Amino acid sequence: MTPPTSLQPADEADLQALAETKSGTELQFFDLHTHSNFSDGLPSIDRIEDRCLRDQLSISLTDHNEIRGSVLLNERDRISCLPGIEVGTKEGLEFLVYFGCPGQLEDYYRRAVEPFLLSRFMVRSKVSSIDCLETAKEMGAFVSLAHPFAFGRKSLDFQRASRKTTHTFVEEVVERIDAVELYNGGVPPKVNRRAAAFLESIDKPITVGSDSHRLRTYGSCGVYLNAKPSTDAATLFGTLNNQPVHSTETKAGSVTLTVPIIMLNHTLFFMRSNKHPRWRPK
Ligand SMILES: [Fe+2]
Repeated sequence: MTPPTSLQPADEADLQALAETKSGTELQFFDLHTHSNFSDGLPSIDRIEDRCLRDQLSISLTDHNEIRGSVLLNERDRISCLPGIEVGTKEGLEFLVYFGCPGQLEDYYRRAVEPFLLSRFMVRSKVSSIDCLETAKEMGAFVSLAHPFAFGRKSLDFQRASRKTTHTFVEEVVERIDAVELYNGGVPPKVNRRAAAFLESIDKPITVGSDSHRLRTYGSCGVYLNAKPSTDAATLFGTLNNQPVHSTETKAGSVTLTVPIIMLNHTLFFMRSNKHPRWRPK
């Protein structure tokens, strides 16, 4: 049986058949792109844990240039979660960087993110996309290009047209990423359709994530990975390259309500003009 890869809600019978073809494995639903109040989202770690436990949801908490929430979730070990971060680069592209253990995520953060943080901007940093990707590769990460055709600098179209990058920049990025975010719950449908069309032209695995900034939309889309329910990050990390995946549609209206929350958080971050919160020293 061919693994389901459509963007429609999973059919129970299909998923059952898929699970049975892989004896000894189970399908686990994963939202691979979420935010907390450690960056520009609303939910606290406590509330994220309660929601994930209640709905048997696995996540990667991928805060913007920030790892405290993701490391904390792994240390507390109550839910199935994969250490991760969303790195915003100087060109404007954003990468979802996943690791098999929180210690590796901390090492990566210290080396490739923290030295390049901007004091007033949460999402952007001074790290170049190529450096971000090469360090990630060197340190054993799995990297997915987030929302590849989102608004402005986040889009590959923008980067292709930009005079600030070389004419081979996009190809150099694509060469270095492990996967592309096929479906993102925070962008309009046509943006996701562009991502799907783009993926047909390259041979890369996919990821799917809600990009939730509030609890209600956590798990509104995601992938089914062949993994037994587990809180072991290394086990979860090992399933990322498996391709039996399926995503579900994001509930309508979630983007509209989320935008003002994000804008307010970014404005407050800018006005505080504090140094970006630093990760604790070893
Ligand atoms: Fe995001």
